[in-house]
Amino acid sequence: MARLQIAVLFGGRSGEHEVSLRSAAAIITGLRAQEQFEVLPVGITRDGSWLYGGDPLQALASGKVPGDNVCVTVLPDPAKRGLYVLEGKEAGCIIPVDVVFPVLHGTFGEDGTVQGLLELARLPYVGAGVLGSAAGMDKVMMKAVLEQGGVPVGPYVWFKSIDWERDSSRIMMEVKTRLGYPCFVKPANLGSSVGISKVHIEDGLARAVALAARFDRKILVEKYLPGREIECSVLGNDEPRASVPGEIIPCNEFYDYRAKYIDDRSEILIPADLSSQLRKQVRELAVKTFVLMDCAGLGRVDFFVDDKENKVWVNEINTIPGFTSISMYPKMWEASGLPFEDLLANLVALALERFVDRERLETVYDPEA
Ligand SMILES: Nc1ncnc2c1ncn2[C@@H]1O[C@H](COP(=O)(O)OP(=O)(O)O)[C@@H](O)[C@H]1O
Ligand SMILES: [Mg+2]
Repeated sequence: MARLQIAVLFGGRSGEHEVSLRSAAAIITGLRAQEQFEVLPVGITRDGSWLYGGDPLQALASGKVPGDNVCVTVLPDPAKRGLYVLEGKEAGCIIPVDVVFPVLHGTFGEDGTVQGLLELARLPYVGAGVLGSAAGMDKVMMKAVLEQGGVPVGPYVWFKSIDWERDSSRIMMEVKTRLGYPCFVKPANLGSSVGISKVHIEDGLARAVALAARFDRKILVEKYLPGREIECSVLGNDEPRASVPGEIIPCNEFYDYRAKYIDDRSEILIPADLSSQLRKQVRELAVKTFVLMDCAGLGRVDFFVDDKENKVWVNEINTIPGFTSISMYPKMWEASGLPFEDLLANLVALALERFVDRERLETVYDPEA
């Protein structure tokens, strides 16, 4: 049987470029270990060029692009489906691809942009579509959808940086009366805790807003939610299922960039030590969040759980969660009886299933028929 050609996309124009390289290294190894897959690694530079051939992972990690890489792209023309070679002897050739696996965290990859290109190109891909990706990336949009669907989220205020410039005292008053201190200030669209501050007193708000405004024009301020940080992995398309929940115990005051990637003193507990009632609630809410957000394939839903008050809030969903061999998403599946390589094979199968489902939809309407 012919092997499935899987194009793995990684790197990209995102503050989470490095994290993506780590996730991709694990995914490429996991797919290569399986007979049925042939992996085509495609490294996207910080400038947005797509490198293929040679070892693009090594090229991006070292910052040196050796001569054995060529630039490729995906054209929004289904007749030219695959990796289209842009330069060199093979310029104009198309390398066939069966499934694309975007391992891109953050902007230009997890936010629906690459997904839109792949839809136009009519290529099957792993993970959420355009809407699920975009809405999952925008924390304000996500909260609106979840609130509407009856999923508990914490109180928040949001505004655009121009609103702050015009009338910061009105916003400061709103934050004080509706949320109080401490509160969290975040850019609406980002990940890996980039641009996020915990603000203890009113005097610190302006500085935190200025930091968040460097990364997004939309800014979110959230009430501080006490409790444990619990996460749950979801897998599937129309009938998604949830893994056992896990717990993060950050080594810093909150789970900031340093605690996530630099300092390795944060602890991970899988499964999380929760009462059976809370465990059930977390798993049900994880699936509900995934469905409401119109996700597909995979998603990691993150919670705050106050076990003294028996309260659970959804913090966020990540549509392309960290995916190194020690990341929460695959680890929680492993603890649920699904090993890393089988998880990857499942994700590829789900991508093909979703593609077939969408291909069934009609794009021509004849009112006479
Ligand atoms: N409202 C909140 N209350 C308490 N802690 C928070 C709150 N919001 C964020 N945090 C802390 O900040 C971390 C990063 O915030 P999060 O919204 O998950 O952003 P990111 O998308 O960058 O991961 C969380 O893991 C948590 O430690
Ligand atoms: Mg988070």
